[in-house]
Amino acid sequence: MCDTFLSKYAQQCGKPSPVNEMTKGFASDFREGIDINLGVGYVNDDTIPAELIATAFKEVINDPLTYRNALNYGGADGSPALKTAIKKYYIDNAIGGLTEVDFTKIAISIGANGATSILNAFADIFSPGIVITADPMYYIYCNTLVRKGFDVVTVPEDNDGIQTDLLKELLEKIDISRLRFLYIVTVNNPSCTILSNARKEIVKLIAEIKLNIMFLFRLFLIRAYEDIIHNQELEPRISALSFDDNNVVFEVGTFSKIIAPALRIGYVLSKNIKILNLLDQVVSDIGFSAPLINQEITAWLLTHYIKTQLQFVNSAYREKAFVLSEFLNATLEHRLINMYGGDAGFYFYMTLCVPTHRNLLFYKFLSRTTGNV
Ligand SMILES: Cc1ncc(COP(=O)(O)O)c(C=O)c1O
Repeated sequence: MCDTFLSKYAQQCGKPSPVNEMTKGFASDFREGIDINLGVGYVNDDTIPAELIATAFKEVINDPLTYRNALNYGGADGSPALKTAIKKYYIDNAIGGLTEVDFTKIAISIGANGATSILNAFADIFSPGIVITADPMYYIYCNTLVRKGFDVVTVPEDNDGIQTDLLKELLEKIDISRLRFLYIVTVNNPSCTILSNARKEIVKLIAEIKLNIMFLFRLFLIRAYEDIIHNQELEPRISALSFDDNNVVFEVGTFSKIIAPALRIGYVLSKNIKILNLLDQVVSDIGFSAPLINQEITAWLLTHYIKTQLQFVNSAYREKAFVLSEFLNATLEHRLINMYGGDAGFYFYMTLCVPTHRNLLFYKFLSRTTGNV
């Protein structure tokens, strides 16, 4: 489509994106007990605390001093109660090893509608240029970036995440003046690879680049699945913010995975106040703020129940991941080349020795177009 009255972005939106089609399909005709939802990132429904959310709603409404005007408009940077609760959540649960002292330099902003809206806002804040990410990439956001005119360049992963030696080589080859940001999902979607603490050296690499070419480079780390790493043998994650001396790190989190996606609460932590202020303006332009009642419900849950909820969510994920891994190994024994995952959530990334083009029965089976209900 090339209607000249449409924005360049809208001209790229004529065909629904893959995630748009997937969520629409799930909402309209998913058959419980028959279909399997392979949309990576869907949450285990059994872990969503529906009763607690109802309790939180009542508690918030009955405490207008702490949760002011909860059913009214909110401010674009997010509810003060939620920001306090997020900070407490980090400190009490030693998330990323961040301390009270770290938080004297770190600011928090709340997205308009989940982590997705924060990522989308970044794509509006930065002019089109190059975004580097790991291969395999999170197709949902990379598709958005491409429609907004960015060039997405990938660097392969190994078991520790994006390969920093290859990243360095790439940085020497590309037109650095077109570089906008590096985007990394710390438990990668779809590969399930957990970015090792050592690999967070990328921050230092970026600092070097900054010094060398005096060009401000930014690192977006999406920690969507870090809260649901349930394999306790893995070392605790360190936040890249703890060694971010140049204010280049943006750590994006979400409560979709440990509370409920439908609340649509995502947040970003950074020492870069200037960019966070730009983000707040985008949030205001989109719809003034994330729904205030959902922010306050999340704040209440974080303050009163998050430890119990975390334990519950992670033991349910662990059990589901175990059952699934046994099932996949037994069922796909002869077809499976590789299988990763199962340490965070119940997601697995498999390489099968099966061709996957559109004319094959396998494809038809996955897209529910075999004709056999
Ligand atoms: C890598 C990644 N980023 C962002 C999101 C979306 O988070 P939210 O529900 O807060 O928009 C997901 C959800 O699956 C994800 O996998």
